[in-house]
This record gives sequence, structure tokens and C-alpha cells, in this order.
Amino acid sequence: MDEMKSLIDENKDRFLEELCEILRIPSVSADNAFDDDVRKCAERIAEFLKTAGADNVEVSETGGHPIVFGEKIVNETAPTILVYGHYDVQPADPIELWDSPAFEPVIKPTEIHPEGAIFARGACDDKGQMFMHVKAFELMMTTGDLPCNVKFMIEGEEEVGSANLQSWVQQNADKIKADVILISDTGIIANNCPSITTGLRGLSYLEVEVNGPNRDLHSGLYGGAVPNPINVLCDMIASLKDDNEHITIPGFYEDVDELSQAERDEMAKAPFSKEAFCKSIGIKDTLGETGYSTPERASIRPTLDVNGIWGGYIGEGAKTVIPAKAFAKISMRLVPNQDSDTITRLFQEHFESIAPPSVSVVVKPHHGGEAAVTPIDSPAYMAASKAMEDTFGIKPIPNRSGGSIPIVAMFEKELGIKTVLMGFGLDSDAIHSPNEHYGVFNYLKGIETIPLFYKYYAELK
Ligand code: BES
Ligand code: MN
Ligand code: MN
Repeated sequence: MDEMKSLIDENKDRFLEELCEILRIPSVSADNAFDDDVRKCAERIAEFLKTAGADNVEVSETGGHPIVFGEKIVNETAPTILVYGHYDVQPADPIELWDSPAFEPVIKPTEIHPEGAIFARGACDDKGQMFMHVKAFELMMTTGDLPCNVKFMIEGEEEVGSANLQSWVQQNADKIKADVILISDTGIIANNCPSITTGLRGLSYLEVEVNGPNRDLHSGLYGGAVPNPINVLCDMIASLKDDNEHITIPGFYEDVDELSQAERDEMAKAPFSKEAFCKSIGIKDTLGETGYSTPERASIRPTLDVNGIWGGYIGEGAKTVIPAKAFAKISMRLVPNQDSDTITRLFQEHFESIAPPSVSVVVKPHHGGEAAVTPIDSPAYMAASKAMEDTFGIKPIPNRSGGSIPIVAMFEKELGIKTVLMGFGLDSDAIHSPNEHYGVFNYLKGIETIPLFYKYYAELK
């Protein structure tokens, strides 16, 4: 594998430049204005796959944004890896908070990435991580040492809930048949503390609307006598949690998988500094559910958060007005065994029931998804662990993440295939935020680790 290392070194600049090329395409899936760019990005990735040596490469229609597929079957008896990733990205907003334009990648050092980081929307989530797989595949084709069959499935709607993926998977179940799914769309604890993600949270996302008077009113003439939708919405939202930051929706915790003390003790061994955590995001103290540590609150416990709230007058100066309507977007992160549809229904029923009779509320469910846990005793987990141990020089620790990748549970349900979450990002890489970046170290480390995963997986399987 020293050959691999020197190959990566020789090709390093090209690997970075090619990633930058992908990052320059603003493939924002949430906004129709970018539809052409989303497609252009899919087509460019398909070309890269072809050039690397993949067969049957196609940009496959879904009814929404297309899926890039490609494969290399080396040997019918060898195990097959299905690589999943996404080429769509979150909107760059708020763009004024970026130090350099979101779709003009630049490489510069940071405190955490002294060897440089690539700054661009999608650098870490997930173009940089997805592209590691394309480059690792290219290298294995170059050396003639591809020990597993591989199939690529790179989607363009992950950031908007993968609405068309399930039916595409059902229709293409044979084509994407594999022994394991390999995904790099998560992170490690730190560059000197590698980890493998063994759990993801589910999600229920809704929008609520509180309707009061039939028009905006003079707040002097009417104020004090009529429901103010914003005040009412704030009261309603505030009541969704008690003093212990416990969610008050009846039945909300009913199906929650509680971890055993042994599992919690194991989790607590992962290094965590509350002080560094607070400092890194500029908060004075943490806030969360009584009885759980910060890492637990952010991974194995369900949440309820307002993601956005609006209504009334927000322009300059003062306008004395009681607004007719108020709105909020609310997300609930769910844990294993909670069902997103059930939680969405419980929220809706509860929210309607706590509305005062003076207003009417509308609850609109958006997308959802289920939590997932991945085994730590499977050949695939052990292959990932050995591969990372080789390249980092430290054995990775299993770590449950708080983020969501709903397709992991969906793949298991539809295809009966388990996933390995071998990601290389850092929490500090600012995914979904301004100045998203991805360490050059992490990018190259991923390219180096992936072929070893193939090697060990072929051996262990
Ligand atoms: N890659 C992220 C999820 C992630 C990041 C998981 C880091 C673990 C560690 C993914 O692209 C994402 O942002 N997912 C969404 C959910 C989706 C349904 C919109 C999320 O978690 O908000
Ligand atoms: Mn992602
Ligand atoms: Mn994302």
C-alpha cells in the first residue's frame, strides 16, 4: 500500500483541482433556479466515473434530480460494495457571511487544518467525501487491484429529503444489489481521534401556521383584546418543553430506545471537552435535557427545535401592528425505534389541541426519515476499522451521530442491506453553514483509506 501512498502524492494536485471543478457547479437541490446546474453536476460526475473506468455509467432519471450510476464488476464471486453519496448541496445563504464566494473554492489553512482546507459549499457535505470514492476507485483501476465489485449511486436530492429515491431503489433493486453499502457523509471525532459512525437520528420536519385576525391590525386600537398570532405561537412553542427540557407531546418518548448503562459508559469514553465545545461555537453554556451528557443529548436523545420563525413587521424602524399570521418551521430529531410518521401525527394532534380557541392553526408536514444503527461486529465494520487503523495509526472508536441520513434505514428496509458510515469530516467543518470547508488532510486520508476498506472487506467477507 506504499504504492498507493506515493500515487496519491503524485496525483494530489489534480485530485484537488478536480474536486474544485465539481464544487464550482452550484448544485443546490432546494432551489429550482439551480436545476440546470444540478444536472450539469450529475453529468460531470458521470464523466469522472467513466474516465476512472466504470462501466454502464448513466445519469438516471427519477422524476426529480437525477441519480448517477456506474459500476465495475470484476468477479461474480467477489463481494459487491454499493457506494452511496450525494452531489446536491445546501443553499449557500446567508451568502454575505462567507469570507470567499461559496461556489469559488479556495484552499487555505485553518487552526484545525494547518495543511489547508477547501472552502466551498459542499466541500465536506458531500461532494468532497463522495469524490474521494471516485478517486480511490480510479487509483484501484490504475494499479489493477480492485478486490471487490463496486456500484456507485450518487443522488441529487439528499438535502431536500430524497423524495424520489425510494421508488428508484425499488425499480432498480436488481441493478444495485450489493453486499454492503459504503457511505462517506458523516465525520470523525478529530483528525487524531478517528471514529466510525454507528448511529444516525431520524427526522420529522413540519411547518406551522397560526391565524388570528383577518388582517394586520393597529396594535393600539386592538392590542390587548385580540389574539396576537406571534404571541400565541411563542406560547405554544414554549409549552412544547418543560423545565427539564423534556418534550411535552403526549406519547413522544413512548417508543424511544433507551441505551443500557453499559452502552452509555462506553460512549462516555469518547473524548469530549465541554469547554472546547462551548468555545468552538461561541456559547456560554450548554442547554439540554436533564439527566444526559452533552454528547448524549446530541446523539441518542430525541429533540424538538424551531428552525425558523416569522411574521409581522420586520422592516426598519417601528410599525405598530398586530399581525394576522405567524409561522414557524419545526424539526424533531428522532432516535431508533421512534417512527417519524407517528411522531409527526402526535405533534400535529398535540399542536392543534393546545391552540387557544381564538386562533386557528395549520400544521404542514414536510419530509421525514427514520433513525438507524449500524452493527459493530460485521465484516464491513471490521474492514472499515482496520482500514482506518492502518491510515490513521489509531483504532477508530464507534460513535453515534446526531445527524440524519434517512436513506440508511430505507436501504435496509428495501434491499435488506446494511451500511457502513465511514466518513472523514469534522463537526467544525461548518456543513450547512457559511464557510463550509473540508480538510485537505481528510480528503486525502479518505482516498487512502477507501482502497484498504475494499481489501479488508474482500478478505473478511
Ligand atoms: N451528511 C448530512 C448528515 C450528517 C452529517 C450526518 C454529519 C452525520 C454527521 C446530510 O447531508 C444531512 O444534512 N442530512 C439532513 C437530513 C436530510 C433529510 C435533509 C440533516 O441531518 O439535517
Ligand atoms: Mn450529506
Ligand atoms: Mn447535508
